[in-house]
Amino acid sequence: MRVWMVPPVLLALAGCGAGTFSYVQSAPPRPFPDPETLAKRLVAMQPDWPEPRVDCRQTGCVALTFDDGPGRYTGKLLDMLRRRDVKATFFVVGEMAAAERGPEHLRQMVRDGHQLGNHSWSHKQLTTLPKRAIRRQLRRTDDLVRQETGVRMRVMRPPYGSTDRRVAALTRRRGQAQILWNVDTFDWRDRVPAVVARRGARAGRGAVVLMHDIHRTTVKAVPELIDRLTRKGYAFATVTELYGRRPEPGRRYEDDLLGEDGR
Ligand code: NI
Repeated sequence: MRVWMVPPVLLALAGCGAGTFSYVQSAPPRPFPDPETLAKRLVAMQPDWPEPRVDCRQTGCVALTFDDGPGRYTGKLLDMLRRRDVKATFFVVGEMAAAERGPEHLRQMVRDGHQLGNHSWSHKQLTTLPKRAIRRQLRRTDDLVRQETGVRMRVMRPPYGSTDRRVAALTRRRGQAQILWNVDTFDWRDRVPAVVARRGARAGRGAVVLMHDIHRTTVKAVPELIDRLTRKGYAFATVTELYGRRPEPGRRYEDDLLGEDGR
């Protein structure tokens, strides 16, 4: 007789005979996860492609993007963006994200509805590296973000905007689009908030504005920049919301951000 044919009642009796009452014993209490683990689990439950909050075909949108962090001013920036209900995209550097309060900032970005993108592990110019090293630069940052937030990043920005066919091929394989920019605030060079805000405010419909959240002056410039763009009637979108569709892996988005249909 095969085991699966034994009626349950016989098994129960056999259990009695052997003196085991495992089926009536209650399971040991499962420890309740600490708040951090719980937050991670909740974050991990979100979909790869959240529903866009704005329809950039109807409303003029601008995407604010912040590179090279998270850094010591990122927390302040995140608090301010949250108060104003502005969503942005953060192209994070793995080394920065792994340091000090980095993981905490990553989780806050995700909780607040910002988009995360890969900006390499140590901000190397990818086009100067052998293929294996490029892959490693991307994979380490992808793994860290996934581990800390549960998010699989679908966009990347090559450091210095420097890309080639090899970088394109690797990002395509990793399922990430290459997001460049079309409005540069030069905030790394001119550490004057008013200047940064004015330059960023030149953005037109569908623009991707490049900034760096590692500079105090940039974080100080953002409220004025938001005010200026709001007065121009723009809504703030993540890069994926800006396209209104999933960005194509491997493709380089730069001047064609508005897409073929003229958005
Ligand atoms: Ni950078």
